[in-house]
Amino acid sequence: MKTKIFITGSSGFIGFHIAKKYLDKGFKVHGLDSMNNYYDVNLKRSRLKILNKYKNFSFTKGNITNFKFLSKSVLKFKPSIIIHLAAQAGVRYSIKNPKVYLDSNIIGSYNILEIAKKIKIKHLIMASSSSVYGANKKFPFKEVDKTDHQISFYAATKKSSESLAHSYSNLWKLPITILRFFTVYGPWGRPDMAYFKFTKNILNGKKIQIYNKGKMYRDYTYIDDITDGVYKLTNKTPKNKKFINDSLSHVAPMRVLNIGNTKKINLLEFIYTLEKILEKKAVKKFMPMQKGDVQSTLSDTNLLRKITGYKPKTTYQEGIKKFLNWYMNYY
Ligand SMILES: NC(=O)c1ccc[n+]([C@@H]2O[C@H](COP(=O)([O-])OP(=O)(O)OC[C@H]3O[C@@H](n4cnc5c(N)ncnc54)[C@H](O)[C@@H]3O)[C@@H](O)[C@H]2O)c1
Repeated sequence: MKTKIFITGSSGFIGFHIAKKYLDKGFKVHGLDSMNNYYDVNLKRSRLKILNKYKNFSFTKGNITNFKFLSKSVLKFKPSIIIHLAAQAGVRYSIKNPKVYLDSNIIGSYNILEIAKKIKIKHLIMASSSSVYGANKKFPFKEVDKTDHQISFYAATKKSSESLAHSYSNLWKLPITILRFFTVYGPWGRPDMAYFKFTKNILNGKKIQIYNKGKMYRDYTYIDDITDGVYKLTNKTPKNKKFINDSLSHVAPMRVLNIGNTKKINLLEFIYTLEKILEKKAVKKFMPMQKGDVQSTLSDTNLLRKITGYKPKTTYQEGIKKFLNWYMNYY
């Protein structure tokens, strides 16, 4: 029988690509998404339209904050694996709209844990974020580093959901892998993210806002490297075997893993690459540091490599090219 994967946030950027990866490999996938209007819903509809073409794909529209609805869809599909990606994302939006984050990221994740416990899930993979490293100054970020100083509410909700997951993993012996994503970009990406907004504004001759006067660094990770890493993890449930610098809990079958590109790129360099490929100069507006933002991120992915052989392949120059190709075709 085909392994059944239940994916929350399947019409979102990462969820869409992960769902497609599993469908291409012949798995049965059920997607769930609220199709909310945090950004252009048409983009979510277009992604869903592609997934709907697969005979092994089914979908329900709804909110993970509604436990009755969520448990009904999970119980009906009977997955052996849940990949939980639905969340309110975005650091900046969380400054003015914290309540949405509390609902989707904490109540929603609690509901997922509760249903995972009920069906005795074989493996629950949950999305977290590099932003949980917050004000840490030691680079690259390792999973075993302390993560006690989140500086945005978004990051705080992500860290909280990691803690909730650990308690459930411990109490009910639920195998859980937490994935800390590092700035994911690529085709079908998120319009609220900087690289997407920059592209749109450069093409329209509009100003782009550059925070911290460009002294910002991100570990940009191309979407195909992300889907590859997640796919390789499918059956790698957290077990007792400990690696060096392993984040595996000593009481629960839960592990935290970074998934990044392991290189930090300066924001101005990134913009320069966009300008070069687009053959158009950006009109730059230099701004101070944005509240809640971290200046720099950089992943250490040795643990993921030891477990799965993960090795990110896409340089940011190649990745931007692929994103721009998609952008030009789509818009
Ligand atoms: N893209 C990145 O760079 C990045 C970095 C770190 C972490 N993450 C995490 O990865 C996950 C996926 O992010 P993404 O970039 O694909 O974002 P996205 O916004 O494109 O996808 C999230 C999807 O979840 C859905 N959703 C939101 N709240 C929901 C709810 N309450 N019920 C049901 N559906 C809901 C949205 O409609 C959306 O389609 C998120 O958990 C996010 O926090 C992303």
